[in-house]
Amino acid sequence: MPSDLERCIMKVVDGVHAQGSYFYMQIGAAGRQPFPDDPQISRSPTFPHIGASALPPSAGAPASRARMKEEIKEHLDFFGTAATNAAGFDGVKIHGANGVLVDEFIQSMFGRAVEAVRGVVRVRLRLRPSNRTGGMGMDGPLPTFSHLVMRVKELYPDFAYLHVIEVRVDGGREVETDDFIRKILWAPRPVISAGGYTRELGMQTAEEKGGLNAYGMWYISNFQSDLPKRLEKNIPLTKYDRSTFYMEILVV
Ligand SMILES: Cc1cc2nc3c(=O)[nH]c(=O)nc-3n(C[C@H](O)[C@H](O)[C@H](O)COP(=O)(O)O)c2cc1C
Repeated sequence: MPSDLERCIMKVVDGVHAQGSYFYMQIGAAGRQPFPDDPQISRSPTFPHIGASALPPSAGAPASRARMKEEIKEHLDFFGTAATNAAGFDGVKIHGANGVLVDEFIQSMFGRAVEAVRGVVRVRLRLRPSNRTGGMGMDGPLPTFSHLVMRVKELYPDFAYLHVIEVRVDGGREVETDDFIRKILWAPRPVISAGGYTRELGMQTAEEKGGLNAYGMWYISNFQSDLPKRLEKNIPLTKYDRSTFYMEILVV
């Protein structure tokens, strides 16, 4: 019996399908990123603060508890359950970027091996090799991420696509691109890339490199007025307001 929330979500999914588009559900575990003084954590015992190891995400931040071996299996089951619950969507996307739990298992500073998540329907994966935020950013990410991408390619011929986040969103830092994934490793399979796209940069990238571009912050401030149409017709975009990005939600 679906809950009220699930019924509402499926209405949105049905609406997207009615317009001839697709909808993937992102599933992920936040790992060490949320702090225990985050209201979502402190008010609910169902959100233990665990990560791949007991390293804090930044100096002075509370350290997460290193997950125990049996909790890895438990988390794999959580991912499986979440994927099963996504029936009605066109597939699921595993969040493996921005320092969330899967990213922690990939990157070497945790000294842990990556655990494969299996048994889901149409899967896509979101990666961010060059990310420095949230205390991430292993030295020399290329061999690790190359191996990961090649293994996914070998093991899962039906894998829907990879979604990478370009590092230029880190502002002020030298721009690095994840073209090695797009051009060398994953080609000719589909890549979606996100990170700091303007209309001009998006069009240029699509023309020069192919694939799809994703818009994050611009989508938030323009989704009600149809961002794709605005981009297509070159209608000015409504500027986003960072102070509205994150809200406190009471979890009971
Ligand atoms: C408020 C906010 C929430 C976000 N939440 C997620 C998330 O849950 N999962 C994810 O993969 N990326 C998340 N992102 C990252 C965006 O999907 C996107 O990759 C990032 O904002 C860079 O693209 P942009 O420069 O077009 O905004 C979030 C970004 C913002 C601003």
